[in-house]
Amino acid sequence: MKKRLTLLLFFAVLAAYVLDQAKASAQEQPARHPLIIYYSLTSNTRIVAAELGSEFGCERLELTSMRERTGFWKVNCVIDQLFDRDDLPGPVKLDYTQYNPIIIACPIWIHRLASPMRTFLDHKRLTGKDVYVVVTHQGNYEEKNEQAVRQFLADQDMHLKGYGAVLTRGKTEAEIINETKSIIKRNFPEMEKPFSGNSN
Ligand SMILES: Cc1cc2nc3c(=O)[nH]c(=O)nc-3n(C[C@H](O)[C@H](O)[C@H](O)COP(=O)(O)O)c2cc1C
Repeated sequence: MKKRLTLLLFFAVLAAYVLDQAKASAQEQPARHPLIIYYSLTSNTRIVAAELGSEFGCERLELTSMRERTGFWKVNCVIDQLFDRDDLPGPVKLDYTQYNPIIIACPIWIHRLASPMRTFLDHKRLTGKDVYVVVTHQGNYEEKNEQAVRQFLADQDMHLKGYGAVLTRGKTEAEIINETKSIIKRNFPEMEKPFSGNSN
């Protein structure tokens, strides 16, 4: 009887230890649940975001703007950038707070992230998140512009893990997709493909 009780006690302690270890390791390794957040005015960045989405098998959140920006009203894009004006954002249709990492895709306007993305990222909305960034541009984008974007992200307390730029000038959709694929290979090597929910 005494032997059985000792054995039972031993297994109870062992089970408690194993459960405790499992709990601790779940806490140490937060779930990886990636999300692509992007903005696109003339569709180039939408192509990039779609390709990222299919490569990593993850959801996409498109940011929208309530400000008129087509035709003559492209002038609004310029005013936003030159005078650091906030966008008038459309509704954000997904609770992005539970996701990590975040893959940001955004056009460059006047050497900076386009105002709908800047406005979204302002006020430290993605603080503490791991972020990967792909910007699209037409070739008027220098090293110092990239440094300024990197600094902006750091100021918002994001952890930048990878950065790439897609030149869209004169490119077909297929060429933009190919360029996105090479950026993933070259600049985001540690990203797992496809993401599988809770795996680390
Ligand atoms: C208002 C405005 C400003 C832009 N400024 C720049 C710039 O400074 N440098 C550059 O290389 N491209 C610039 N572009 C080009 C866009 O970055 C490029 O076409 C991008 O791929 C557009 O992405 P989208 O089609 O997803 O909107 C600008 C475009 C707009 C509309």
